[in-house]
Amino acid sequence: MELKEIKKMYSDLTKNYDKRVKNRGKYTAYKKMSLLTIKELKLKNAKILDLGCGTGLSSLEFFNKKYEVTGIDLTPEMIKEAKKLSFKKLICQDLEIPLKVKDEEFDAAVITGVMEFIKNPLSLFKEINKKLKHEGIFAITIPKKFPKGSKAPYKNYYKKEIEPVFKKAGFKIIECKHFFGFKQLEGTRSIYYYGYLLKKVKSTSK
Ligand SMILES: C[S@@+](CC[C@H](N)C(=O)[O-])C[C@H]1O[C@@H](n2cnc3c(N)ncnc32)[C@H](O)[C@@H]1O
Repeated sequence: MELKEIKKMYSDLTKNYDKRVKNRGKYTAYKKMSLLTIKELKLKNAKILDLGCGTGLSSLEFFNKKYEVTGIDLTPEMIKEAKKLSFKKLICQDLEIPLKVKDEEFDAAVITGVMEFIKNPLSLFKEINKKLKHEGIFAITIPKKFPKGSKAPYKNYYKKEIEPVFKKAGFKIIECKHFFGFKQLEGTRSIYYYGYLLKKVKSTSK
């Protein structure tokens, strides 16, 4: 999907996003991945980077822990909605250009429900690596490869395709969970996710 289309889709969805994805879409990845991150971090205070934060669902558990969260999203309407929550900072930008946050600043980065739209995963993962502290945690949902012949406007992967990309970007896999992702709001397709918990093991440059 082109950036313009993604922006339009999420701008139209913003008002009813939380209700629609939770009820009709049966989407729970935002909670699963943030809880896994918190469990792995074992920190009292932490700085989190929520990439493609949307309305902020993916940061609710971090707010409960009083963590300091910076959110980034492409869609201005989503950012406006996210401003109602306790984000430390919100940035409206495309994730596929250099991220406008400091290097080696964050204890963890999360990206849930977004890889469906990312054209160059390696470049984004390297950029995330730069923004994490040494041994920083990276939690991510990857749409599982669709069955042959099925069409959807989303990027989707085999494990064997995406895992070498994590490695190349300087990450080690701590664990990988397989779970139901969401039901497409228009149509009947169910999307499944791989939920990866990763650790930065070496620094990489572009
Ligand atoms: C399904 S929502 C996920 C929101 C949130 N992470 C959650 O789990 O509820 C996808 C979000 O990714 C954002 N997005 C998609 N492509 C993006 C890009 N290239 N750069 C930044 N944000 C993007 C959309 O604007 C939208 O808010």
